[in-house]
Formats: sequence, C-alpha cells, structure tokens
Amino acid sequence: MPQLTWLGDHEAKRTARKVHYRLLDPVEQVGDPASGNLLIQGDNLEALKALLPFYAGRVKCIFIDPPYNTKSAFEHYDDNLEHSQWLSMMYPRLELLRDLLSEDGSIWVTIDDNEGHYLKVVMDEVFGRKNFVSTLIWQKADSPRNSARQFSSDHDYLHVYAHNSNWIPIKLPRSDESDAIYSNPDNDDRGPWLPGDPYANKPYSKGQFTIKGPTGRSFSPPPGRFWRVSENRLRELDADGRVWWGPTGDARPSIKRYLSEVSDLVPRTLWTKEAVGSNRTSKNEMRALFPGEESFGTPKPERLLERILLIATLQGDLVLDSFLGSGTTAAVAHKMGRRWIGIEMGEHARTHCLPRLKKVIEGEQGGISESVGWHGGGGFRYLKLGEPAFLEDGRINPAIRFATLAAYLWFLETGAPHPTGRFDSPLLGTHNNTAYVLLYNGILGDRRPEGGNVLNQQVWKAILDVLPPHRGPRVIYGEACRLSPARLKQLNVRFRQIPYDIRMR
Ligand SMILES: C[S@@+](CC[C@H](N)C(=O)[O-])C[C@H]1O[C@@H](n2cnc3c(N)ncnc32)[C@H](O)[C@@H]1O
Repeated sequence: MPQLTWLGDHEAKRTARKVHYRLLDPVEQVGDPASGNLLIQGDNLEALKALLPFYAGRVKCIFIDPPYNTKSAFEHYDDNLEHSQWLSMMYPRLELLRDLLSEDGSIWVTIDDNEGHYLKVVMDEVFGRKNFVSTLIWQKADSPRNSARQFSSDHDYLHVYAHNSNWIPIKLPRSDESDAIYSNPDNDDRGPWLPGDPYANKPYSKGQFTIKGPTGRSFSPPPGRFWRVSENRLRELDADGRVWWGPTGDARPSIKRYLSEVSDLVPRTLWTKEAVGSNRTSKNEMRALFPGEESFGTPKPERLLERILLIATLQGDLVLDSFLGSGTTAAVAHKMGRRWIGIEMGEHARTHCLPRLKKVIEGEQGGISESVGWHGGGGFRYLKLGEPAFLEDGRINPAIRFATLAAYLWFLETGAPHPTGRFDSPLLGTHNNTAYVLLYNGILGDRRPEGGNVLNQQVWKAILDVLPPHRGPRVIYGEACRLSPARLKQLNVRFRQIPYDIRMR
C-alpha cells in the first residue's frame, strides 16, 4: 500500500510503543463515584498509553478535534507545528486510539484543508484503508468572511473510520424537517405520504406492461425502463388506495410511501448548521456556560457531538475524546447516558472542563439539555497524569498499588484488559487455561513491604488456598523464588521475577 513519508516518520512510528506507562493520580471525585467517567489532565500520548491496560478494545466511539495546524496561536493552546511535526504528533496518538477502539467501534476526526488530506492518508495506514467509512462535511460558518484572501471557508471535514469494515451506522431518528416533505392531499386514512418513483432501477421481467388510469388514460414505462412492480401487484396496490394518479386522476401512477411506514434516516454526508449548529452556536454555548469570563476559543457545538453519538453509540457505551478542549464531547456523552473519558493537556482542563462537567451534573440547561430531557446526575473522577509506573532502572514505582500492577501484568500476559478489573486476591484470573498469580505489596496479608512477596513453601500453601481447582500451568509473579526448579516443575509453576520479567515501560 502506498504510504506517506515525512521527516521523522520512522521515529513517529516507534513512539507509541516506546512511550512510558504512567500512573493516573486522583485529584477529585465529583458526584456519583460509581459512574466510571474520567476527566484526565495531561498529554494524551501518555494518558492514552496509561489507559491501555484498562480500556484496550473497550471504546465504542472516539471523537477527536485536534489542533488543525492553522498556524494560529489560540487563547488556550498553540496551533502552529511544522507540517512533519504535526504528522509525527498525530501518528502515535492515532495508533493508541486504534488499540483502544472496540471491535464494533468507530473514530471521528474533525479537520480542515491545512492537514485534512494528509490526515486521511495517515488514517488509512493506521486504521486500514478498507475501514474508511466516509468524509463528512460540516457547515461551520454562518456567514462569509470577506477578509479571506482566496476563499472564505464554510466547512470542516469529519473523517470517519470503523474498526471493522462491516460497521453499520445507527439510523438517525426522524425530525420535523424530514417529516415535513410528507403530505396528504387525498385525505388518506393512513396519513401523510410521498409519491414514490414507480420505475425500477434495473430490468425487471414483469415490469413492462400498459395500465389504464382512472380517467381511461394508458401508461407504459418510458423506453428502456420498467415498472417496479408487476401488473397484478400494481392493481392490488391501486385497489388498496396506495397508488396516486395525480390530483385529476390522469397523471402517471406513483406508489405512495407513507410516513407511518418509513424507517429512521440513513445519515447523510452533508451536515448543515441548521441541523447540528455552527461555530457561532458553540461560541454562544460557551458564553452561556461561562458568562463574563474568558471563553474557550474553538469549541464544537453540542448538537454536532449529539449527532455523532446517535450514529455511533447506544446508552451505556464508552466514548473517548483525547483533545477535549472545553469538554463538549464529555458533556454531550454525559447528557446522553453514555460513559466517557476525556483527556485535555491544557490548564483549561481545570478552568473549563471541570466546572463545565460539574454544571452538567447539576443539570445545566444549555446545548442539547432540553432536547434530550437532561436534569442532572451522575459523576466523574478528575485525574492527573502521574509518575511513570516503571522507573528508569526497571524497578516498579513504589507508588504503584497492587490492583494497578495486577492490571498491567494481566494486560501484558493476555493482551486485553481484565474482564472485571477487580483484583482482591493474589489470583488475578485464568486465561487460556493458565492461572496468573501476583505476589506484591503483602497481598497475602503480611503488611511489611516485602511480606509474602517471595515464593517459598509457606507462601505456596497460602496460594493454594486461593487457587481454584485448576490443572493447567500457573504463572506466579513475585520478588524472589525459594523453590527449586524441580519443585516448580512438579507444581506446574512458571516463576517470573518482578521487576526483571516485566517487559513494560
Ligand atoms: C480544537 S481544541 C478541541 C475543542 C473541543 N472539541 C471542544 O469542543 O471544546 C483542541 C484541544 O486539544 C488540546 N491538545 C492539543 N494537544 C494535546 C495533547 N498532546 N494532549 C492533550 N490535549 C491536547 C488543546 O489544548 C486544545 O484544547
């Protein structure tokens, strides 16, 4: 497959693998502690890596609105990278995002002409060209900008990729606007209808006949075309009042399509400002949220995110935005009953996202609140990117707790997050008939730092109490092993020494 090359591309393609795992430090719990939603302040490269052991393959929808590289300095962040640097910034982040996406997930990225076409090629490489779904046009501008040197830009793009090419968008609910084109000129009991095309798109063996209308006028399909239904079927439909011959009964027949019988709407590629809001809409939303304060300069409208989440998620699904800005994605996901993770590097994570999401929990009534019937509730944890999980010399950071190390090791061994994420015993679980055990931080009850972390006869007996009846191999992580190789073989145990056998960064 043709690939894009740029200065530093080799390094960029190794970055995601090389970046260190870091801990996520809790700063504040807001609202319901059981909600599972996360607001993380920090560089998304490290934050995404930190999420992998817990969320790989679990995210249903990723929306990102990265800096477009417009060469501007916005109030809250700079948008001025050299072209190759921008590609090197995006590449590893897209790779990590791909690893977080679920099998039935999709990723949506807003962009404009500055980098949009390069981004498409990079995304082809990272997500697979066959998984490209569409590039949508979002009408962002309300009015022309006459000061533009060449063209006044009316739109942004939205590149949409699925994890799998068999991904199907969820149809959109019908709207007043889409229903308004239906009418009922003949007072049909079945309600409003549209005159449907009577002709088939392909040759149809029973589709060439002549039929007489109510006034005796004869109708045949135009040369080379065919009726969509057989003569018998057309007569049946007519007898049932489902054929329209025009107001005076002498027009060519149309087959009525009733509003009551049509399904929801397949999404289209042109998203107008009337349907999903514009930049002006989102700036007004910001002003309403933070009256009189310095508002965030480049937010997206809530309705734009609402439409994406309607197409890509159901209630309870997990949504991720790793360029959170003012927090729009998290706010909309929350109001729509989706779970969410938002990552933002700038101070506005604290000055904008945090208060905005607190207001959402209190039931703020801006944006989509009224249309989705939002009245408040739920919660989230506010976290900051912490220290590296593993120190330069390979030692485990002493700040790492049992459950966190357990999650890393489970991910290292199985390539997927732990099914429950609950670790309250040295037995982490069984995978492919192998039981995984971790001796760390006195999990067996001895509270001394090294207590119970060494595999000896006494500890083995304690482990046996927590091991389920299991005939397969056992992998035990611990600081040292006092059992002989022959004894380990007899017990079907492979011992792995912490930290040397942990190949995570
Ligand atoms: C265009 S704004 C996103 C606006 C957002 N969609 C909204 O509705 O408010 C891009 C955001 O990405 C953030 N950002 C840029 N690089 C980042 C990084 N490496 N890690 C985390 N956030 C980053 C910027 O600070 C900025 O807030």
